[in-house]
Amino acid sequence: MKTIGFFNNKGGVGKTSLVYHVSWMLAELGIRTIAADFDPQANLTSMFLDDDDLEKIWTQSERPTIYGAVSPQFRGVGDVRPPELTRRTDRLALLVGDLDLSRFEDDLSQNWPKCADGDERAFRVTSALGRALVMAGGHFDAEVALVDVGPNLGALNRAALLACDFVVVPLGADLFSLQGLRNMGPTLRDWRRLWTERKSRNPDSALVLPDGAMQPVGYIVMRHSVFAGRPAKAFEQWMRRIPGQYRESVIGSPADQPDDPGQDPNCLARLKDYRSLMPLAQASRKPMFLLRPADGAFGSHYLAVQECYRDFKVLTTKVLERCGVPALARL
Ligand SMILES: Nc1ncnc2c1ncn2[C@@H]1O[C@H](COP(=O)(O)OP(=O)(O)OP(=O)(O)O)[C@@H](O)[C@H]1O
Ligand SMILES: [Mg+2]
Repeated sequence: MKTIGFFNNKGGVGKTSLVYHVSWMLAELGIRTIAADFDPQANLTSMFLDDDDLEKIWTQSERPTIYGAVSPQFRGVGDVRPPELTRRTDRLALLVGDLDLSRFEDDLSQNWPKCADGDERAFRVTSALGRALVMAGGHFDAEVALVDVGPNLGALNRAALLACDFVVVPLGADLFSLQGLRNMGPTLRDWRRLWTERKSRNPDSALVLPDGAMQPVGYIVMRHSVFAGRPAKAFEQWMRRIPGQYRESVIGSPADQPDDPGQDPNCLARLKDYRSLMPLAQASRKPMFLLRPADGAFGSHYLAVQECYRDFKVLTTKVLERCGVPALARL
């Protein structure tokens, strides 16, 4: 199973919406997929499930959520439990998020340096999310898992991203996103380097740790400020700075000159603001590109649905190629 995190410590750039839509598109393309909600805000979970379903899940004593899977490890009463998944289709399952996941932030933070001393519990705690995800993948026979995380550089996100082979960076064309790249890129590289060093000190050879490769796949520009199909001038100016900033901060290679994201191999897509479709999708708990006239998507909305389908198919195919998942055409 390939595990792909969507990450930017700038909030509200579209991480959760992308994980939701790309996971549905993967399933459309015939790929068995897990969407894993490792953000305690649980927004991904609420895109998939309505409040009634969610209340039933969250009020169970042994919750079928990521919290339920890892809490025995954190509470010191056992190891990670195989997570129960919530199936959406034959090929798509959700690893349900949980607000209580944030309780583990301190424990994760304290245990990270202890990995450097070869402390066994520190490795068990640090790898708990990754191990839970691998168990879920085995159980569902998943080929791909997409991971949604919250907008910060904290210990929980570090543990969540250590579970990822690849990282996709969603961003906006604005000052905040460029600043996000400057913070996030070097942090990601530090986490990767430190985990590589620490992994070798794992005292228990039976404890299989995630690789923590977090290989950058590329970035996706969310075009929220496009007006009538014509980018505003400021938008274009910020856009031109993204390729160089991404190279410098995330890949760690010289920034060269700023260039055109349209020509930049690291640019996976420039996604439109599907403003009219998003509320319909949220109301019907479907991805925008699977809306039907019965969901309110008729006339020009329906044309937008078809365009959205094409956009996400191209994007998803590109992500798969970059992550080495065998070519599709399985529809
Ligand atoms: N392509 C899009 N078209 C229209 N609206 C979008 C699009 N992508 C995201 N949005 C909207 O933008 C808002 C922020 O998106 P989202 O919640 O996915 O961001 P996020 O990065 O996950 O946020 P957070 O950092 O809080 O986790 C949401 O209201 C979402 O519906
Ligand atoms: Mg989110």
